[in-house]
Parts: sequence; C-alpha cells; structure tokens
Amino acid sequence: MHEKLSFGYLDQLSSKHGDSFYLIDTSRFKNNYFELINAFRKHYPKTLIGYSYKTNYTPYLCSLIDQFGGLAEVVSDMEYDLALKVGVEPSKIIVNGPYKTLGNLKKYFSKGSLVNLDSYNDFELLKQLVESADYQCRVGLRCNFQITDRYISRFGFDVEDESFKGVLDFLRSCERISFEGIHSHFPDRAIQYYNPRARQMLQIAKRIFDTPPKFIDIGGGYFGKMPEFLANQFGSVIPSYADYANSVAKEFSTFYSDLPEDKKPTLIIEPGSAIVADTMFFVVKVIDIKKINGCYIATTSGSKFNLGSFSSTVNMPMAVFVDSDNDSTFYESIDIAGYTCIESDYLFKGYRGVIAKGAYIVFSNIGSYSVVFKPPFILPNVPIIDINSSTEGVVIKNKETFDDIFSTFNFLE
Ligand SMILES: Cc1ncc(COP(=O)(O)O)c(C=O)c1O
Repeated sequence: MHEKLSFGYLDQLSSKHGDSFYLIDTSRFKNNYFELINAFRKHYPKTLIGYSYKTNYTPYLCSLIDQFGGLAEVVSDMEYDLALKVGVEPSKIIVNGPYKTLGNLKKYFSKGSLVNLDSYNDFELLKQLVESADYQCRVGLRCNFQITDRYISRFGFDVEDESFKGVLDFLRSCERISFEGIHSHFPDRAIQYYNPRARQMLQIAKRIFDTPPKFIDIGGGYFGKMPEFLANQFGSVIPSYADYANSVAKEFSTFYSDLPEDKKPTLIIEPGSAIVADTMFFVVKVIDIKKINGCYIATTSGSKFNLGSFSSTVNMPMAVFVDSDNDSTFYESIDIAGYTCIESDYLFKGYRGVIAKGAYIVFSNIGSYSVVFKPPFILPNVPIIDINSSTEGVVIKNKETFDDIFSTFNFLE
C-alpha cells in the first residue's frame, strides 16, 4: 500500500490530527504526471496535460501542475479563480463545462484564456460579447459524436447537426475570434474507446479546419494505477499509460506524419483520476466492534462519503494496522461501517482478516472525486497531511471547523 504506513506512524499522526485524516503522496503525483506525459510524448512530442481541477482541486496539487508545465482544466468560475489564485497564467487555463455566464466569459476571454464552447447558449453569449470586445477571444468547440451506442452524451455540439455549420461559419469569419481547436471528453475508461475517440477527433479536425488547428483536446477519463484487488472489481483489463498513449498519441503521430513539428496541433489530454487517484489514502480508527444477528460490524471514525464516488460500487483497497497482534481477532467476514446515521454507510463490506478496537484502517486509491465531493454531513471534513513530510505531518488542508460550515448561515438574532 505504502512503505511509510505502520501502526506507530498512524498513531503519532492521529494524536496530532485526530482519529481520521487523508494522507497524500505528492511525489507519487509528480511521478504519475511525468510518466503519463512521457508515454504520450514518446509517440507525439507535442502533447500537453490539462489537469482536471474538479477531480481533486487541492491547491497544493494545482500549484504542482503549474510547476510541471501543465495547463489548468476548469469547469466553473470557482475553479477559474482558484487557478488564478495559485498563480496560473490565464493563457494556461482551459475553460470547459456546460454553464457559463456572459460576465464569466468576458473575464476569461479578456484575460486570454481558452474557452471551449459547449452549447448554442455559449455561442450566443460569444456573439454578444464580440460586438464590443477589444481583445481576441480564444475559442474551441466541444464536439459531440458517438463512440458507443450505450448512451448519448449531453455535452457539446452534435457535429452532424445542420446548425453546426452556422457556428463554424461565424467562428471562421469573426475577426475578434481565434478559432483554435476542438475538444471532447467521454467517461468511458476502457481502452477500446480511445482509438475511436482519437480517430474521430482527427477526422473532425480535418473536416472543419483548412489547415490543422492549434490544438485537439481529447479530454480525460483514463484509469489510474491500481492494485489487482481493485482492478478485478472493474471487470475489464486496466490499461496502462502506455496503452492509452498507443491508442491515441500513435494515431496522432501517423495522421500528422507529413507535417513539420511547428504545424502540428498540440494534443491536449485532461487526466484527473489517472494521476491523482492512487496518491491519496484515507485513515480511520476503529471505534467499536459489535455482533448483530450473527454479523460482525466495526464502526469507524470515517464515512463512505470520505472515499469518493467509486466506493459506492466497489470495495476500495484497505489495510488494517493493529497495535499488537495479541489484542486483535481474526474475522472471516466483518463489515467496516461509518460514523454517519445512514444505514448504508459502509466503507467496506465483508473484510476477511485481523481487526481490533483502536486499530487504524487505511483505504487507498481514493484521490479522485473524494475531497471535492465530501458533504459537511454530520461532521466537517478531516485534514490532509503530506505523507512525505516529517513524522509531525505537514498539513496540506486544515481540519474543517464549526465556523467553516456555519459561517454562511444567518442565525436568528
Ligand atoms: C471535460 C472533462 N475533462 C476531464 C475530466 C477528468 O476525468 P477523469 O478524472 O475521469 O480523468 C472530466 C471528468 O468528468 C471532464 O468532464
């Protein structure tokens, strides 16, 4: 799981930071970033990463991405302001997402950020804006096409629709607009969806631009690294970074093989989970062990709401750290429950192994859609500690307080 973890280490951190806390491995984050980008650059050197803020917008991580030379991929004004606050240059911010206001768009364009339009509403707002704009608007289009018949994506412009032509005509003809490229994103993580995604984007680019665009952004959705225990539960082979690069970057390389480097579009990928999921751990303490109607249940200081969205469909990998084997008991099957009053709040069902009251349980691979999704339900959220820091633990996010939760409510005088 992680070489640093032991009962002593966790107990020391717990005495300072409380019964539950997140641990983050920032060196692993760095390694993932460079391993992924290098896998793509091996085939197609002109690749950039736009880190998906929504997946885990911990400012420390966003700053690291900026230091590594990555772009910020944001989908709201809150995330945009965060990128500015961590010092990202506006020209290195990509704005996606289905909800943009006229005021927001004006801010993004006037600062020189790239905005991928998602809808005819975005398009209408852009048309209003350029009437009085004294700056260049850097525009991309989110393209919608089928890569599977299992569902219809609700995002972007249907590239087969008649009215799409009108959007293209306007973008091409307006002096205040630099129409820089196209974007897509699909949530399908399995490898068989990636080559069709790349191929279709290359064909669309060829169809709508006379000369190759500045960028083609094929979005995120890549699996991260994970232990076999988790991989087996996804029911498909988990592709490596190199597998994704083979399906996408190699296709780009072949497609543009005749072009000089400076004429090739930049390939942008927008990983979130792929680089952040295995960098975080969630630590809980066993508060009680009970037996009800023949079933063993360990109640803990954490909740499934701390673990992120994946945990509702699969058991996240876990490891137990007991003080001494003498005080612990082996269970054929024990359910690990949360502190909330929700009946279904289980962090793990059917654990087989040694456990004890006072033990620590560490859940791994929980870095995506966890911290950003945790509601202030029943308790404020726990701190995030850097696992690579001294034994004291450098705090990356403070433990939330009563005031953090209630300062936005008005109390009756
Ligand atoms: C436009 C866009 N890019 C990137 C991502 C990141 O996805 P993931 O964390 O699955 O890689 C998402 C996730 O929904 C997205 O909507």
